[in-house]
Amino acid sequence: MMLLEEWIRKYGTVKDGDVLKVDSFLNHQMDVSLFDKMAKEWKRLFAGSEINKILTIEASGIGIACIAALEFGCPAVFAKKNKTRNIAGEVYSAKVKSFTHGTTYDVIVSRDFLGPDDKLLIIDDFLANGAALEGLLDIAAQAGAEVTGAGIAIEKVFQHGGDRIRSRGVRVESLARIKAFGPDGSIEFMH
Ligand code: G4P
Repeated sequence: MMLLEEWIRKYGTVKDGDVLKVDSFLNHQMDVSLFDKMAKEWKRLFAGSEINKILTIEASGIGIACIAALEFGCPAVFAKKNKTRNIAGEVYSAKVKSFTHGTTYDVIVSRDFLGPDDKLLIIDDFLANGAALEGLLDIAAQAGAEVTGAGIAIEKVFQHGGDRIRSRGVRVESLARIKAFGPDGSIEFMH
């Protein structure tokens, strides 16, 4: 999606450790007009596919997922990063290992809000190593929900999470795919 690439080039900055800072428009301050265009692009890409729920993970996925939910005319559910003990039986739960932060945490979704009738579009801001997306796929599987696909804003292709998840047969549509960061902070996109 050219507009997202343009925004990344204009307002994104590359930090040490191959981290792209996009907090002026994507994951802190939010350009909701851009989100609206992203949602329309996912709607175009997934036209003809059945989707009755958006699933995302807190925190940065939520804003994008809400606008996508408006576009698809369905609810959005976000997986919570659990800070308290699970109440057995009431939630689906998966472990997510963050390679960036070197931590593992649980994500949970209430059994009330996901089930076998759901056809999910999973939305997130970044796909890097893929741990967050794998956690959401695990939760969808526990619920018996069908995953129609995943809509990602920015995929860091060189971290290979996308390859692994596509090889499981999941359709992943990333709107901007980054092949590499240059030593001078330049950004190389893959088309
Ligand atoms: P993964 O989920 O794809 O495996 O990625 P990883 O463990 O490497 O990433 C951990 C967190 O860092 C995730 O957010 C992910 O979205 C984010 N992230 C990964 N690469 C980048 C990047 O280049 N730039 C930015 N800004 N974020 C990146 P999180 O910890 O779940 O945070 P949040 O959603 O609560 O903000």
